[in-house]
Amino acid sequence: MMMQPSLPGQDVTLPVVVRSMTLLAKDTLAVEFMPQDGVTLPPFAAGAHVDLLLPNGIRRSYSLCNSPSDTGRYVVGVKKADPSRGASSYIHDTLRVGQVMKVSAPKNNFPLDETAAKSVLIAGGIGITPMMSMIDRLEAAGADWTLYFSCRTRADAAFLDRLDLLDKAHCVNLNFDGEPGGAILNLAEIIGAEQGEGVHFYACGPAPMLDAFEAATEGLPEGHAHLERFGGEPLPVSDDALETFEVECVQSGLSLTITPDTTILDALLDNGIDIPFSCMDGVCGSCRVGVVEGTPDHRDMVLSDGELSANKVMMVCCSGSRSPKLVLDI
Ligand code: FES
Repeated sequence: MMMQPSLPGQDVTLPVVVRSMTLLAKDTLAVEFMPQDGVTLPPFAAGAHVDLLLPNGIRRSYSLCNSPSDTGRYVVGVKKADPSRGASSYIHDTLRVGQVMKVSAPKNNFPLDETAAKSVLIAGGIGITPMMSMIDRLEAAGADWTLYFSCRTRADAAFLDRLDLLDKAHCVNLNFDGEPGGAILNLAEIIGAEQGEGVHFYACGPAPMLDAFEAATEGLPEGHAHLERFGGEPLPVSDDALETFEVECVQSGLSLTITPDTTILDALLDNGIDIPFSCMDGVCGSCRVGVVEGTPDHRDMVLSDGELSANKVMMVCCSGSRSPKLVLDI
């Protein structure tokens, strides 16, 4: 059975079995999922992620790190967080090969622009996972790419064997900032040196790295700098954001009043509207909803500058409203 991609309000979930769990680096596992019950896993593009619906009730997004041409399985890389909010510790300590669970259909907030003259990939720690699917795609297309990959130590770095095989053109630059003599990557210097006509930059990693990336790519043409966050500080509440506002749902006919003590997502779920969600922090893109009317106060870290100003979609887990009423396509 071929499943369709997930749409707001239509959360496609796929039964899968854990086929293998492999140690990639210190506290980092590759988890491979195969389809169950005769389903066909939908294809995915480089940079995509899936939500894991863990048997302990937690739902969390993880980037796919296998090749997009690799049909019939999904592989994610999971670093055990310290402290864990319950997902990575469950995966490391409890999830086992043979366990049956569900995953969402793939979604992509971090797509690769395959028209780029060159792709410069910058990864910190477990931020390497979406880059691995991008590198596979770039290699398959014979495209020009360079990777800058930084970790505390070599023991923390996943995929070193695979990267070594891919480094035919000496385009893999490793940096271990916690080792003797190590230093954090100078992103302003890297971006200055790599900048050129049609060059696109991608970054995924810890918040300080991504903040530095945003600062260093400020002067690039629009759409040439791409980043994916795992977490971090949401955008600030706008001065003209309303504390209380109405939400009208065109498909269900429901009208709700959103007060300061609840989010739009919580109000929708409490009233029986089934919205996909995962991070609840505005970073995964799962709760994206179409906006028919009104002006959202965007506080997520997913939407592009163009999407933020167009006001046609919003993330309902964290965003609010600047108009007395929002009409949503749910
Ligand atoms: S649930 Fe992740 S962005 Fe809203």
